[in-house]
Amino acid sequence: MIHRTLLAGLASLFLFVSVSAQADDVNDEKAKKMANNAGCFTCHTLKHQDLKSGSKPVGPAWEDVALQYKSKPGAAEFLTRIVLEGSNPYASHWKSKAAGLAMPPNAVAISETDARQLVFWILSH
Ligand code: HEC
Repeated sequence: MIHRTLLAGLASLFLFVSVSAQADDVNDEKAKKMANNAGCFTCHTLKHQDLKSGSKPVGPAWEDVALQYKSKPGAAEFLTRIVLEGSNPYASHWKSKAAGLAMPPNAVAISETDARQLVFWILSH
């Protein structure tokens, strides 16, 4: 009897943890803080910016990233990997919309959990 209760308790705890890890929404303040601490804003802005004619941003504005990937299935996982491992310098996903540099790997600056949360947050815009 005790065992069964304990097991049920553990099972629901596990369910709770896995569900909340998935759905864990970071608020704006926390997301911006994570991005700032990891140095993302050195190359990215939140909002699309019209720069002086001819010049392009280093990294795409996150508003534009959201627009491009929002409706694509699996985008969050795909982008989390790119954020951690860096982008492919020979196959830019932002041809002619960004300066044409590659994104270096950010795994040194941000944990996988935080990167995933940040990407979910970016895509929610
Ligand atoms: C040194 C500059 C730099 C830093 C720092 C940087 N990025 Fe990037 N990021 C880029 C560039 C350049 C691209 C465009 C890659 C391409 O052309 O495919 C990019 C692309 C992206 C994309 C879209 C990827 C794709 O394939 O479309 C996401 C999402 C992203 N960055 C998130 C982040 C996050 C989150 C951080 C901080 C942890 C970060 N970036 C830090 C330069 C940077």
